[in-house]
Amino acid sequence: MTQRARTTKVVRAGINSETQFGDVISPVHISTTFAFKEFGVVPANDYSRANNPTRSLFAQAVADLEGGSGAVATASGMGALTACLISLVPANAVVVAPNDCYGGTWRLLDALATRGSFAVRYVDYSHAAAAQAAIDESVALVLVESPSNPLLKVTDIAAVAALAHDAGALVVVDNTFASPIVQRPLELGADVVIHSATKYLAGHSDVVLGVIVTNSPSLQEDIAWWANCVGVTAGPIDAYLGLRGLRTLHLRMEAAQANAAAIAGFLDGHNAVGKVFYPGLPTHASHGLAKKQLHGFGAIVSFELKSLDAAKAFCNGLESICLAESLGGVETLLSHAATMTHAMMPNEFREAAGITDGLLRLSVGVEDVNDLTADIAAGLERALRA
Ligand SMILES: Cc1ncc(COP(=O)(O)O)c(C=O)c1O
Repeated sequence: MTQRARTTKVVRAGINSETQFGDVISPVHISTTFAFKEFGVVPANDYSRANNPTRSLFAQAVADLEGGSGAVATASGMGALTACLISLVPANAVVVAPNDCYGGTWRLLDALATRGSFAVRYVDYSHAAAAQAAIDESVALVLVESPSNPLLKVTDIAAVAALAHDAGALVVVDNTFASPIVQRPLELGADVVIHSATKYLAGHSDVVLGVIVTNSPSLQEDIAWWANCVGVTAGPIDAYLGLRGLRTLHLRMEAAQANAAAIAGFLDGHNAVGKVFYPGLPTHASHGLAKKQLHGFGAIVSFELKSLDAAKAFCNGLESICLAESLGGVETLLSHAATMTHAMMPNEFREAAGITDGLLRLSVGVEDVNDLTADIAAGLERALRA
């Protein structure tokens, strides 16, 4: 099936499937429990922690967009990662993770490693030799975040998957920053894709949600079993909001990417700005790979100002852009990695990953690009005076 056909399928997911009243949109199933028609005959949905029709509809729609066979929807992106770690990493195994991953991912891996659940090796996947050295037979799971948060490094998923599979490890890709419109890791050899669906998939900054997609029925069964066992599955109203957002994902991504490309170009030439991190810029370290692997360049642009004071001056006084955690909504959000999304990372770790005090991350939304550029231009003037 082509990606366009999958998009149509998702726009129409569950449409006209209700038979009692003829609802066009599938109703939200908020019941916690479902009646057995007969003693001993377990219905497909029996108890909502394990199975819920609204949650299944959302999960399958994401699986369709990612080219997977099935998915498990979780209460958050961190819930998705937790379910993967619990189900896929045996005791005392090794997890390989990117050295510039989302701060919450780092916190979870570090906390579990500190209590002895497994060991973690952090690596910069853009150094092929480092990746090769880190992935050996002791590794159970290779976690990739691509493009990475906040430096937008693109990982060569096919190459990492080949290394991991040779070592007998599974590859889990956090595809939150790209969305399946821009990158489809299962097609590149990944075993599992996870999302913070709080971001692009739901797309309106009004629900915290996660999802785990795979094209292996046995992995799917294992992950679903654990997600139910520990109770990290998504609630039906959250899943409904996720599905509602998902129907317009392709349109939102197209508009946001066009805005992001224009803003990256504007920032790139400005004398208040040091480096601009955007995979669509020829100067970006991953540009060549991004052209090959991505369908577009995403809608996140990070950029460096000269100091913490310059970053503060930029943030204070914005009119169309909101200083806030998170990303992937229709509205443009700005965050300061060192004090916000990556505050939980120790300084030395942050510095080694290249996350400086002047680094800002823009999640570009779908507003009129001229309004956004005017706000950014005014912020850069403030930064120059700081
Ligand atoms: C790349 C990435 N993965 C996972 C998460 C965690 O997702 P959630 O906040 O939905 O738990 C985030 C949150 O910002 C993220 O940016």
